[in-house]
Amino acid sequence: MNDEKSPVTILVPGWMHERSVQRIDAAFRMVRTERVDPALLTSEMKRDVRGIAAMGFREPVDAALIDALPNLEIIASFGVGYDAVDARHAGGKGIVVTNTPDVLTEEVADTAVGLLINTVRELPRAEAYLRAGRWERDGNYPLTPMTLRGRHVGIYGMGRIGMAIAKRLEAFGLTIAYHNRRPVEGLGYAYHASLEDMARAVDTLICVVPGGAATEKTVNAAIFRALGPDGVFINIGRGSTVDEEALASALRDGTIRAAGLDVFANEPHVPQALIDLPNAVLLPHVASASVHTRNAMADLVVDNLISWFSARKPMTPVAETAHILAKTT
Ligand code: NAP
Ligand code: 8YV
Repeated sequence: MNDEKSPVTILVPGWMHERSVQRIDAAFRMVRTERVDPALLTSEMKRDVRGIAAMGFREPVDAALIDALPNLEIIASFGVGYDAVDARHAGGKGIVVTNTPDVLTEEVADTAVGLLINTVRELPRAEAYLRAGRWERDGNYPLTPMTLRGRHVGIYGMGRIGMAIAKRLEAFGLTIAYHNRRPVEGLGYAYHASLEDMARAVDTLICVVPGGAATEKTVNAAIFRALGPDGVFINIGRGSTVDEEALASALRDGTIRAAGLDVFANEPHVPQALIDLPNAVLLPHVASASVHTRNAMADLVVDNLISWFSARKPMTPVAETAHILAKTT
């Protein structure tokens, strides 16, 4: 099936990585729409669509779209987080949802560690100081009040990426604790059943938990108070997990010392209150954004479609639709 064009129709609504688009176009009949909106499809197209490839972290593949496509079998989402895909609804109808785990894990973990070091050692500010000519004019950049040495790290979301971050930070000589809903069997790091208890026990909180209702604004004023005045908060997971107003206040009034953020609640908008803060390092959601890793994610989107339509075996189904794999194999 890799070499010949299948008669199966795949809908690609809104943004999609160009490599996925080219491969889908080569392997299937592709229908592209400018945004996710069933009203943009004729009834013939709705009947024909058997697969969707979408950026399911942002483009809403919701119940209305799923229900509008009577022959839909699979939704292949770009990205490991699939916040905007109604996977439970899809799973209930026997429709598979796939995401792109693992291929981005190491890249995202590298970025998390870079963001942590930039935040603690003020490297972006030190570079801006040099570029502004201040090293020659004013002398050495001031010593940083913060150091990584002796820090106690708490990871909120000890999954694939959390584990890769922990491995790196363990090699840096830092102590690691974590909070998940359940402890990970056989893992030696200290487990905390409560996020607030963990925040009290550490001074560096790294958030890499999925977005969605269960985690929405769970990093809030109480968590920042628990983290304390030497506290550093890093978010590489989702902006929706954080109460951004509470974070800006905590950074402004010294409740915590600094934050490094790759993700925001309402991207690409970043609250001015955060932009104004000198003790916040801000990145435009770039954790997986290398050509290498984005190509691997783009390939996995298409490989899932090919694998489903040629062998009924999605490569990386999400938990809510894993039963469909079991039923059909
Ligand atoms: P993963 O392997 O599924 O890990 C998620 C972890 O979070 C699991 O250990 C899970 O453990 C825990 N968790 C889930 N819901 C929870 C809850 N309500 N309370 C406490 N813990 C919870 O996922 P991953 O591959 O590491 O990716 C994690 C997330 O990172 C993605 O979903 C995405 O949002 C984000 N991400 C961001 C970027 C970026 O560009 N910044 C890139 C990739 C990923 P339990 O099930 O035991 O609770
Ligand atoms: C993606 C991400 O690049 O995988 C995820 O969950 O957040 C990023 O890796 C993003 O979804 C697409 O811009």
